[in-house]
Amino acid sequence: MVTAGPTREELDPVRYISNHSSGKMGYAIARAAARRGARVILVSGPVSLAPPCGVELVAVGSAEEMRAAVTGRVDECSVVIKAAAVADYRPLERSGNKVKKQADELTIRLTRNTDILAELGSRERRPFLVGFAAETDNLESYATRKLREKNLDMIVANDVSQSDAGFNVETNRALLLFRDSRRLECPLMSKEELANVILDQVAAERAAPAQFSISPADRG
Ligand code: PMT
Repeated sequence: MVTAGPTREELDPVRYISNHSSGKMGYAIARAAARRGARVILVSGPVSLAPPCGVELVAVGSAEEMRAAVTGRVDECSVVIKAAAVADYRPLERSGNKVKKQADELTIRLTRNTDILAELGSRERRPFLVGFAAETDNLESYATRKLREKNLDMIVANDVSQSDAGFNVETNRALLLFRDSRRLECPLMSKEELANVILDQVAAERAAPAQFSISPADRG
């Protein structure tokens, strides 16, 4: 399973909170995996990309919809790669009608969305889990923390402060981190190329998994 794209958290029937994810990174991974002969379920937020050939597309809008799609299908999957940029918060209330202009300032109250990846990582039986980390600073330390806290097998850290990497561009530059503290720096390359590096690493790790496990006490 691959997740891709942004989520949309609706404020009212015409407005939402979202982010700049185009889906290119996740779609490249789904395409590369399908070309290798994998059965691929692509859970995608709203993007303007055509689904890759041979991939089962599950289209979702909000983070809660993505969570339902992922958890409903995860038992069919041996590997989950979460390239989607999932909103951490959603509006506490969604208005059924278009919100009208009123005062000069408007306060919107937000509430936390469930972290889908962390939820998968806490399952007793879980697939091989690959997360992404989109950071603007402290790339390696923040990504290492996510790898441990979400109990992942591998994390792809991208520095999204750079104009040629991360959101809505054709290229990416990443640092791959693994449970056994191994690290692999991937210089600037196309998202297709990075997708293949990620899949090569997933295949290698699954063939010879790291002899290392993180106890729940160590995760915090
Ligand atoms: O789509 P593109 O334009 O090609 O851009 C690619 C990308 C920059 C979106 C992609 O490379 C990327 O970094 N995706 C992850 C973005 C992100 O949301 O990072 P995060 O550090 O906030 O989240 C960490 C991980 O937890 C991610 O795997 C995310 O999918 C997951 N998560 C986050 C929040 C949440 N509620 N549930 C989650 O599963």
